[in-house]
Formats: sequence, C-alpha cells, structure tokens
Amino acid sequence: MKRKLIILTDPGQDQAAAILMILGRPDVFDVLGLVATAGNIHLDYTLENCLKLMVLAGRPDIPVFAGCPQPLMRPLVIADHVHGPTGLDGPTLPAPVVRPQDGHGVDFIVDTVRAHPGEVTICALSPLTNLAMALRKAPDIADKIVEVVAMLGAYFEVGNITPSAEFNCYVDPEAADIVLNAGIKTTLLPLDVTHKMLSTPARLEAMRALGNRCGVATAEMLEFSQAFDLHKYGWEGAPLHGPCVPAFMLTPEIFSGRQINVSVELTGRVTLGMTVADWWQITDLPRNAFWVRDGDPVAYYDLLLEALGKLP
Ligand code: RIB
Repeated sequence: MKRKLIILTDPGQDQAAAILMILGRPDVFDVLGLVATAGNIHLDYTLENCLKLMVLAGRPDIPVFAGCPQPLMRPLVIADHVHGPTGLDGPTLPAPVVRPQDGHGVDFIVDTVRAHPGEVTICALSPLTNLAMALRKAPDIADKIVEVVAMLGAYFEVGNITPSAEFNCYVDPEAADIVLNAGIKTTLLPLDVTHKMLSTPARLEAMRALGNRCGVATAEMLEFSQAFDLHKYGWEGAPLHGPCVPAFMLTPEIFSGRQINVSVELTGRVTLGMTVADWWQITDLPRNAFWVRDGDPVAYYDLLLEALGKLP
C-alpha cells in the first residue's frame, strides 16, 4: 500500500529537494496534493515555486493549492536572505504552465483527510499554519490523519532564525502548538538531526553528475542556498533540512530518537518559537512527538540520489 501524502511546503531549495525526492519514489508515495505555505518567501512565490517544481518533475497532474498568506497570529517572517528573492533562486526553472487549484489549501486538507480516513500522512516541510487552521475548522480530522511527519524545531542544536527558535516553528509558533496538542501521531525532524546532513561539494557534484534535469537543478538550487549557511556555520557543507522528512518515511531505521514531550514557547521575549524537548522526561507531560536526534548522512544522501535519479 502506497503512503498517501499531503505536502505542506514553502519552497525553498531544501524543500524542493524533498519534494523531488518524494516524486522520485512513486512506488512508495501517492502525492494527493501540495499546499503552498507562506514562509521562506511570500505565498505568491511559494505557490509559483510549487507549480514550477511539478513541471520540472514532469508531474503537472498533481494538484497545488494556495494556503493562508499569513501565520495565525503574527506578521510573516521570511527567509529571502537564505533562499533569494524568489525563494527558489539558483537554476532557471520551467515556467509554471500549470495553474493552482481554485479551492483553498485548508479546505483541501479537510476534504482530503475526510475522504481518506486513516490513510493520509501530512508531510510538513513548512510552518504548520494550514494544518492548524484545518484542525480548527474541522477538529474531527485529527483522528483521521495517520501521522504528521514534520521538519520543525531545534533543541540540542539551538535555533537558526533566533538563538532559540527554528524557522518553521518561529514563523507560526501557535500553529505548531495546535498541531502538537491535537493528539496526532507526530514525528519531528529538528535541526538536531538536519544539521548532521551536510551537502558537501562531493555530494552536490554527485547530484549534478546524475545528468538529468532534476538532478542538475537540485545541485544548482542547493549551490545557491548554501552560501548563507556556509558563511554562518563554517561547515564542510550546508545542512539539508527538507529531505529528512521523506527519508524518515522511507527508511526510519537510519534515524534515531525518542518519544518525548515537546512544548512550544509562545510568550518568551527571547525564546518565542523555541521547541522545548523534554529529552530526559523530567516532566509528566504527554509524550506527544517522536523527536529525531540522529541519522546516517551516507544513507540519507544515497536515498536522495537514488530518488532524484529516477526523475526526468
Ligand atoms: O529551519 C529550516 C527550515 O526553514 C527549512 O524548511 C527551510 O526551508 C526553512 O523553511
């Protein structure tokens, strides 16, 4: 049985790699649709980027919906300093000759989960605004969602958009709080693990050497977005966040973590959006998430290259 996915995304080069990785594995994933999120860049760009990626991957059949243009409670914070003015700078991508669906992304989530109860996994690469809105509009879907697998949070690796908060959580901390308290099986891939997945020059060259348009485009995207992180961290490569989500769904055994309580700071002056991971289970708060702390980077990049190599 293929895993039915709804992908929440604000591409973003790393998320583009994640989406392409998913599309390279149609033997495993049945993508029901994408919901564009306001995050890395404004919604008009993330929506267009989703459409461009569907054309690049030869999947214009996959429906793309626009989600909310703003977080639940706060002004939008973007990351164009990392991803460029379009959010997907680097390669010249095909024109988005396909159009978004007419309906709203939140309604797509509600309607699709209700139509496939017990079958849909939410693949969350972005802030959780649209899933939180869907849960508020239709609380009944919480019991119908198989699992949320999300790139979100940081604890041992501290924050990336503030000293204490990871970007996807910081953009919409209230949304993260709603999702983490909805009683849905949830796996989080935080910076604690994504910072171990570094796109070294050899790994980028291997992507480019695939020679297909998706492999080359992925290398060009990551070669653009890496500049900020290489300067910031001084590592041998930039962390590749997004593909950790499909990689976990494909081969959870290359990762390790714990089922613990994860709480979101909503009022802190300097800790807003921090994910407080009760790793040593000091509290008796509900163990609401599987927190992934480690992973095998060699296996990770092998998975990514294998999937990219199957695309046009
Ligand atoms: O903190 C990393 C996350 O924030 C990634 O999803 C990246 O695309 C940015 O959105």
